[in-house]
Amino acid sequence: MIVSGSSSQTLAAALADETGRPLATVTYDRFPDGEGLAAAPGFEGTEAVVVATTDSDEAWVELLQLQDAVREAGAKQVTTVIPYMGYARQDRAFEPGQPVSARAMAKAISTGTDRVVLVNPHEATVTDYYEVPTVTVDAAGVLAKALPKLDDPLFLAPDEGAIGIAETVREAYGAGETDFFEKHRDRETGAVEITPSDSPVVDRDVVVVDDIIATGSTMSEAVGVLTDRGADRIVAACVHPMLVANAVTKLRAAGVDEVVGTDTVERGCSVVSVASVLAAALGP
Ligand code: R5P
Repeated sequence: MIVSGSSSQTLAAALADETGRPLATVTYDRFPDGEGLAAAPGFEGTEAVVVATTDSDEAWVELLQLQDAVREAGAKQVTTVIPYMGYARQDRAFEPGQPVSARAMAKAISTGTDRVVLVNPHEATVTDYYEVPTVTVDAAGVLAKALPKLDDPLFLAPDEGAIGIAETVREAYGAGETDFFEKHRDRETGAVEITPSDSPVVDRDVVVVDDIIATGSTMSEAVGVLTDRGADRIVAACVHPMLVANAVTKLRAAGVDEVVGTDTVERGCSVVSVASVLAAALGP
């Protein structure tokens, strides 16, 4: 059965449809002192696929509880699908005294599962932190389905790290060129500075592709440069549309025409599903 965390209910249902696995009834309660209680009273059988995006601290606790709940209910084989892995960007100690948060989370999750599936983690090497077999899937290609008809498109990575997924989206779209900007982020303030490339953008449609839009600083800086340089339509596309705080407003103010994302994080702009990619990774 598919067992869903509260942040992944739409994706879990789509995955149940794609794979033909039944969707278990799950409850998410909270005690008066604030402690959560996620349970799977509808779980039956011996195989559980727990699908839970960990976009908040509560979601991590919920995932640990659901892993334990299905074992308690008799699951012999537990697969944990983490569509968006929070804390993955703290994959090393950047300053003395800091934790490697990604490793701490991965170790905790490994205790309750037999295998893990991650969607476009920030760095693929995060799989090394899990203590059970762990695979990553690249779902960026599904973003091409969300794009309007584009004129002479440029698929642009806002920094070098996103070149791979920009290329994946261009290939899936089937036309256009790929390029990248250079980015510098001030670790103290979080401010982002972009050094643009020389690609001509005047009267051209540009799709800026990143793995995640969080505060929107990276994307809005890139979009602002493109607006100033005379790009025609500008689409911001990402796998994980976290869109925290005022990210949407920042993007609109910078001149973006459309924001599209997948359902690894369920937001208003999550217009395409990664369910088919996950179904292929899970197998029959
Ligand atoms: C960083 O390397 C990532 O690929 C994203 O560009 C970044 O995490 C996005 O964060 P924000 O939206 O806060 O700029």
